[in-house]
Parts: sequence; structure tokens; C-alpha cells
Amino acid sequence: MTELFFKETYSPLSSSELIAKEKANMDEKRFKHCVQVSQTARKLARLNNYDEEKAALAGFIHDYAKQVPVEEYRKVIQEQDFDKDLLNWNRAIWHGIVGTYFIKRDLKITDPEILQAVWRHTTADIEMTTLDKIVFVADFIEPGRDFPDVEKAREVSYKNLDEGVGYELAHTLEFLIENRNKVYPLTLSAYNVWSVK
Ligand SMILES: [Fe+2]
Ligand SMILES: [Fe+2]
Repeated sequence: MTELFFKETYSPLSSSELIAKEKANMDEKRFKHCVQVSQTARKLARLNNYDEEKAALAGFIHDYAKQVPVEEYRKVIQEQDFDKDLLNWNRAIWHGIVGTYFIKRDLKITDPEILQAVWRHTTADIEMTTLDKIVFVADFIEPGRDFPDVEKAREVSYKNLDEGVGYELAHTLEFLIENRNKVYPLTLSAYNVWSVK
């Protein structure tokens, strides 16, 4: 695995402390995914003239809270300033929006752009910054992904980031509907902005 290093620009923690905390909060498979999303985010940043260090860090921490126990999430949603409707959803949605709480608390990252990119990576949004798009798309096309159209998704995303967002949202909606899963309303709104021709 390529050597990981994050400058101390966005967190008072040293790079090795940050990496150790991330590793301790998830299993091996999830950690590998985060490393690969970080590398893919760096590549997308380079292609889109965005700050590579910032994109790499945001990609690395995007799933920091994915494996936090459900009960802990419910407690945080109830006690902190989160929309209580979130209690009707699940960890697939929580780990982006509420994941930001754990990232601030444990990793001491407060940069609003990074936190927003993590917040939006599970739902997308009708407005997205370049960093939001980078993390959203990197999560979808990192080298470990192997769904049937992944090569097409990579091709579209590396050519045009906005089209990558649209492709991903359409793909996600197809999957959710095919499996008769609930669609988070914001994701449907985002689909109407980014995917519809
Ligand atoms: Fe995620
Ligand atoms: Fe992810």
C-alpha cells in the first residue's frame, strides 16, 4: 500500500495519529476503501485544478464513522443539533451527515468544506462544491469497486466531474428502486439537478 501522509493543515493531530485513529474505528476492508478513495480523490483534484492535499484528506476520512454502533448514532442525533427525522433513517445515511460530528470530536477537523463534503457524500445535494463532487465520485469509482458499469463510471467521471455526479446518482437511484429501498428525498432532488438531461 502506498505510504500515507497528511500535512497538519486541517487537524492538530499528526498524520500518524490521524491514520491510527481512523484505523482503530473500522475494519481492514473499510480502511482499505478509505485509502483508495483518498488516492482517487487526489487524482480527481489534479484533473479539476483543486487542492490535492485537501481532497486526499477528505477522501480518507469520508467513512470515518461508517461502523460506529447504531445506538451511539441514535444518541448523538437525539442529543445534538441534528434533524430528528434522521432517526427514521439508517447508518447508510447517518455516516455522512452525522459522521461529521464524530470527525470533529475525534479527528479535530473543523474545516467547513471538508465537513460538508463528508456530510454530502451519502446523499449528494442540489448544490455541490468541487470538493463535494470529488469525494462523492471518488467513493463510487475507487479501484476496489467492481459493479458491472464501473469502467463506464470511471471514464465518465475522469472526463467530466459533473457528469460523474449525474451518472452516480442515476446508478444509485436505479439500485435503490430495483431493491425497493427508501430514497432519501434530498438524493432524489439531487438526481433531478445532476442526472436529468
Ligand atoms: Fe460512505
Ligand atoms: Fe465510502
